[in-house]
Amino acid sequence: MKVYIRTYGCQMNDRDSENIAAEFVERGWEVTEDETKADAVIVNTCSVREQAEIKAIGKLGNVIKWRKSQGANFLPVVGVTGCMAQNLGPKLVKILPDLDFIAGARKTHKVADIAIEYYNKRMAGVRKPELKKGEKRTPATSDALVDVSDDLTSHLYIKKHLEKTGAKQVCALVSIMQGCQMNCSYCIVPKVRGVQRSRPADDIVDEVKTLAERGVKEVTLLGQVVNAFGRENAQKEKTSEFVRLLQKINDVDGVERIRFTSPHPAFFRDDLIEAYGSLEKLCEYVHLPLQSGSDRVLKEMRRPYRAEQFLRIVEKLRARSGRMSISTDVIVGYPGETDEDFEETRRIFRASGFDMAFIFKYSPRAGTLSAERPDDIPEDVKEARNKILLRDLEKQSLAFNNALIGTTQQILVEARAKRGENMFMGRTRTHRKVVFKGDESLVGRLLDVKIKAATVSALDAQLGPDFEAERGAE
Ligand code: SAH
Ligand code: SF4
Ligand code: F3S
Repeated sequence: MKVYIRTYGCQMNDRDSENIAAEFVERGWEVTEDETKADAVIVNTCSVREQAEIKAIGKLGNVIKWRKSQGANFLPVVGVTGCMAQNLGPKLVKILPDLDFIAGARKTHKVADIAIEYYNKRMAGVRKPELKKGEKRTPATSDALVDVSDDLTSHLYIKKHLEKTGAKQVCALVSIMQGCQMNCSYCIVPKVRGVQRSRPADDIVDEVKTLAERGVKEVTLLGQVVNAFGRENAQKEKTSEFVRLLQKINDVDGVERIRFTSPHPAFFRDDLIEAYGSLEKLCEYVHLPLQSGSDRVLKEMRRPYRAEQFLRIVEKLRARSGRMSISTDVIVGYPGETDEDFEETRRIFRASGFDMAFIFKYSPRAGTLSAERPDDIPEDVKEARNKILLRDLEKQSLAFNNALIGTTQQILVEARAKRGENMFMGRTRTHRKVVFKGDESLVGRLLDVKIKAATVSALDAQLGPDFEAERGAE
């Protein structure tokens, strides 16, 4: 039997999907990339902006339409999980009564069992309630299971990884916690993912060791507020739990690189800044969400820091390591955002020198504090502000990349590149994508390469003469 999994949203969702896939494999199923061959289709969803929900509902609608075209055996099983499933719950049965199940974001560890139960039922001849000719399915004739109940133990289950067959696995995601303890006015994540729950550190270290034994060289630790790891249990610690975890992972043999996402400025303390340079595996790249550069807006957003404090973290990081790369998230068009507020954001954006950023147009989410206010910034103003920041970003990004031309950079070779035969891709410690001509034996290796050319999004490189000589001698 085969399962097809489609994922929307953030890396935590990517990681949850991998866990779901591993649960299926444990039960004797295969993962397929071809949804037309699947016996179960799982859509793992996001709720963070309205557009994310629209996309997922569209996708599910198409899958169901396709299933209907295949006859009346109700296969593949179609299930939805993740944040939108949690957010909409029974409302999804109204929108898509043909679904088989809706399992919330705190139930992803149950998805494989629920789907397989439906599959077995269908194979045993159990059909959905019969419809009269021309009658449309409604919630009354739906047999969709809805499970969006809370589960405060769900974080303990996100530790299964797929063992890759064929290609070497070089990088892995590791979710170290679930939920969020913050209260940002615009954000639906705390509602859908629940309160912050950190996994036991030893469990995480064991997971990383297992990955390293399988050949994984780079781990990215994930959490909504990753640097608040463990804080729900120990508020007043001297060295943060998160830094202690980084230290332990730095000691794992075989791991060459450590990254994490996303830290919160409010918990970015000096011990974390000092970890750069003292933990040799910790890469010089930080994704630090700014959201707004206007103190007035930050306050309304309930982000507990001010623009100058944000800049100070950036300065300290840059002082610690000259080649630090910093990226961010910004929301434009928050209710009441004036031209002056936006100019402040632009100022902090430039002063921080971000070389990557995700810029989002504000999207009101029912159930959040800011959704009670009118969404009063017109779409064309949001769009214009979005474009201005993107243009600023492009300049900053290109400048960062251009400055690397002619230098030698260490890259970790990740995989074959899409661009052309014998082309491979890796990343610098600063997370810049590098494309070069090589061969399969290089995947998983740390190499020094010479940067030849740059665009906004990638660098072209050549293997250094030392490496060519080494290969010649092999
Ligand atoms: N936990 C992370 C962010 C998770 S959501 C953090 O706090 O940094 C990813 C990004 O989506 C956020 O950083 C924010 O920029 C954006 N976002 C969240 N809610 C939004 C909304 N209602 N409208 C537009 N963008 C939003
Ligand atoms: Fe959302 Fe704020 Fe939590 Fe990030 S820190 S997930 S933006 S509530
Ligand atoms: Fe989206 Fe849920 Fe991630 S709302 S951004 S998938 S935590």
